[in-house]
Amino acid sequence: MVVGTVKALIMGAGGMLGSDLCSMLPDAVRFTHRDLDIADRDSVIRSIEEIKPDVVINAAAYTNVDGCEDAQELAFIVNGYAPGYIAQACSNIGATLVHFSTDYVFDGSKKEYVESDTTNPISVYGESKLLGEQEISKNMDDYRIIRTSWLFGKHGKNFVDTMLELSTRMDTVKVVNDQFGKPTYTLDLASRTREIIHLESGIYHITNEGMCSWYEFASAIIDNTVPCQSEEFPTKAKRPDYSVLTNTKTTLLRHWTEALEEYLDEMKETKK
Ligand SMILES: NC(=O)c1ccc[n+]([C@@H]2O[C@H](COP(=O)([O-])OP(=O)(O)OC[C@H]3O[C@@H](n4cnc5c(N)ncnc54)[C@H](OP(=O)(O)O)[C@@H]3O)[C@@H](O)[C@H]2O)c1
Repeated sequence: MVVGTVKALIMGAGGMLGSDLCSMLPDAVRFTHRDLDIADRDSVIRSIEEIKPDVVINAAAYTNVDGCEDAQELAFIVNGYAPGYIAQACSNIGATLVHFSTDYVFDGSKKEYVESDTTNPISVYGESKLLGEQEISKNMDDYRIIRTSWLFGKHGKNFVDTMLELSTRMDTVKVVNDQFGKPTYTLDLASRTREIIHLESGIYHITNEGMCSWYEFASAIIDNTVPCQSEEFPTKAKRPDYSVLTNTKTTLLRHWTEALEEYLDEMKETKK
């Protein structure tokens, strides 16, 4: 495949990452959830056979981490089996599949994780995303699975927006200081995804550089933060204490603080 001549099909085109992928690949064919339900195996296979893309980029997923604990069946179908259907269809026509997975496939017992580290999810979301990885590698050879973490971007509700909103209506905002990860700007990830299409098959860890706690992340966004422990905010799904992804395979992205600054500037411009 030659850069620039690739026919791409983006699934999950209406999501936070999917929207930025569409702007990075303006000629790509796009499917939002309304256009195609990735859990509908026959439609997935038919669509891919009709369009005959060189590469399918799947940004569709059921991403509500706590919601997955209640809607387990839906989580396993959308995040687990559907990527397998897409992989089968790609394999039938010789297309490459780029798929996104998560830091939550790890249990957080290690401080940092490289691509080959042993997975051990501790939530239904993590289990369902791991099943997606397994279904892909079982059904095809030419895939790129990109694990990423703590996404923020202008086309979806995210932690940065939540902090900005809470800060305006609360004197102080309590944020957990005992879970660590790597915030990642969807525009940076989308831009790197375009390059990864042309790298070798396998698993990639792509995040902005620099790790922090949610509290440290929040403190870079707003001034009125107070640190607290996870016990103060019980959630349905367990989260790993550490889900720090290390990229040993490609050039590193910029530091998250730099990406955040650009995002905040961009948000100010949009509001003008
Ligand atoms: N957000 C994060 O912090 C984070 C962290 C690590 C990894 N990831 C991974 O990164 C990828 C992109 O995440 P994101 O934050 O951009 O998620 P998002 O904003 O929730 O976008 C996901 C998109 O998938 C669509 N979708 C859901 N079920 C579908 C189905 N059955 N068929 C077709 N489309 C469906 C959703 O449409 P509706 O909204 O209409 O249902 C939505 O447009 C996902 O694979 C996610 O697991 C995200």
